Amino acid sequence: MKFFSVAFFAAAVQSVLASPSIVKRASVNDVANVGYATLNGGTTGGSGGPVTTVTTLDALTSAVASDTAKIVIISGTITGNVAVRVGSHTTVIGNPGSSLVGVGLRVLEKTNVIIRNVKISKVLAEAGDALGIQQASQVWIDHVDLSSDRDHDKDFYDGLLDITHGCTGVTVTNSKLYDHWKASLVGHSDNNGAEDVAITVTYANNYWTDLNSRTPSFRFGHGHIFNNVFDDNNDGINTRDGAQLLVENNVWTGTDKPLYDTDEGFAVARGNDFGGASNTAPVGNFTTAPYAYSLIAVANVRSQVVSQVGQTLSF
Ligand SMILES: *[C@@H]1O[C@H](CO)[C@@H](O)[C@H](O)[C@H]1NC(C)=O
Repeated sequence: MKFFSVAFFAAAVQSVLASPSIVKRASVNDVANVGYATLNGGTTGGSGGPVTTVTTLDALTSAVASDTAKIVIISGTITGNVAVRVGSHTTVIGNPGSSLVGVGLRVLEKTNVIIRNVKISKVLAEAGDALGIQQASQVWIDHVDLSSDRDHDKDFYDGLLDITHGCTGVTVTNSKLYDHWKASLVGHSDNNGAEDVAITVTYANNYWTDLNSRTPSFRFGHGHIFNNVFDDNNDGINTRDGAQLLVENNVWTGTDKPLYDTDEGFAVARGNDFGGASNTAPVGNFTTAPYAYSLIAVANVRSQVVSQVGQTLSF
């Protein structure tokens, strides 16, 4: 028995070494454990509901559509040119190695949605954002891998992860956003304040690299941004139109505007490494997040975050 366990352990170590991209085991029933998604009753998605595995666009589209509790697992590569609408009380999981190419996911006027370990690339602007969340509440985006390329003009693709029209209770964790023009827009437009002032988003432990702008661009609402790594983006965090951001223990290299405002956005910044550049945003009044959370010492953020992000979970 002892020999068996040792051999088993050795085999397990070998298989982890053989697939270094998988760093953690997770459960399809996991619920949000960080940030705004944990408030207002939490974000459980389809936890405990029936599990369906899909391998085609048609199967994906119908499996995620209802508003009843369910878990949908994406397997293999699904291609298309469309945004698939995800219903309430749904968890969408990507199996290791799975991918949506040209296929975005849309959470529109829904609540209690989890999207985890999903890789999405090259969603054309005519289909919309890679992940688009609008008029939604309690949404957890975790371990997603979002990219396109920068070989086209900036409007060939739209956003990677846009959170607009008054969304509340959104958390984005352990995700990788890269090789794209417009990364993450929060708040629809300069004249949508009446709706977007309610916005609440947490971004924690994400890796942002080779992006032109919107890392994120944040209008009107409250945003908490901690333990993120930003490398070689043109632009930094843009706080706009009265937004109140709390920005803690993030690391930047390669931009001269890591944190700045447009039209009077605000930020309370603590513990960041701006990579030699400066924060120019006016100081705001968002000093205390309404939940408990763990800050990584800023000197360790890079080593603890970058290797964990994206589609690195197995289930
Ligand atoms: C924070 O500042 C904004 C903008 O000046 C103001 O509207 C809001 O009432 C302030 N909030 C608190 C809690 O002081």
